[in-house]
Amino acid sequence: MKFIVVTLFPELVESALGHSILKQARAAGSLQWQTIDIRQHCEGRHKQADDAPFGGGGGMVMKAAPVISAVAEAKGAAPGAKVIYLSPQGRPFDQAKAAELARSESLILLCGHYEGLDERALQACVDEELSLGDFVLTGGELAACVVIDAVSRLKPGVLGNEASAGQDSFSNGLLEHPHYTRPAEGPEGQVPAVLLSGDHAAIERWRRQESLRNTFKKRPGLLSSAALDKNDRAFLNGLGWKEETS
Ligand SMILES: C[S@@+](CC[C@H](N)C(=O)[O-])C[C@H]1O[C@@H](n2cnc3c(N)ncnc32)[C@H](O)[C@@H]1O
Repeated sequence: MKFIVVTLFPELVESALGHSILKQARAAGSLQWQTIDIRQHCEGRHKQADDAPFGGGGGMVMKAAPVISAVAEAKGAAPGAKVIYLSPQGRPFDQAKAAELARSESLILLCGHYEGLDERALQACVDEELSLGDFVLTGGELAACVVIDAVSRLKPGVLGNEASAGQDSFSNGLLEHPHYTRPAEGPEGQVPAVLLSGDHAAIERWRRQESLRNTFKKRPGLLSSAALDKNDRAFLNGLGWKEETS
């Protein structure tokens, strides 16, 4: 999968992404990303990318023409790719959206800075706005990196263990069960005995129940839309869960 990040701060993107699993996936060719520097599309000796807002007020606004031109370059490098503007005004990004985007071959991620983009750039070249949540960042670069990270790990070949993304929190509507590793006991405490039993059915049952317990404790709201069977319901009822009936 190929991501093109259109930004005034390419180095921010490179420094955030070039580590660990994503770095290895890029080296192995399962993932590509590149940046397009909006500054290179600015005119004049000072290559000015922003200007004061019409109507007054503080902050600077990113000029429309360089953004439109930089996105056109990105579209040339990834024909047909959707253009996503990272914005606090966008639809909240979540795991379901990550899974949807992971079905694309390429994506163009447009980052704002300062007060954001001149509205005409948004109208001219943005297909969709995505938000990381109801808070305001200084720029879209870290948000773009979050989207790239969450989407990439769903692509085959990016994670070492193909199974692990499928069991992560949210993939089945629940939070994941707890994890333990060596040593089995020590000053940190003891690992639950079932995990050392070699009884795979019992381990699966324990994991399902601990996943339900985690979800009930930390995000009970998720339970109303999760697929639950009668054993799940009985276990949750034992924890004090009251199913909402409408
Ligand atoms: C300071 S913000 C601009 C906020 C804008 N003035 C507003 O109130 O809607 C600068 C840039 O950061 C990015 N950004 C800020 N908050 C974000 C969020 N919650 N999710 C995604 N991107 C965000 C956007 O690209 C935005 O253009």
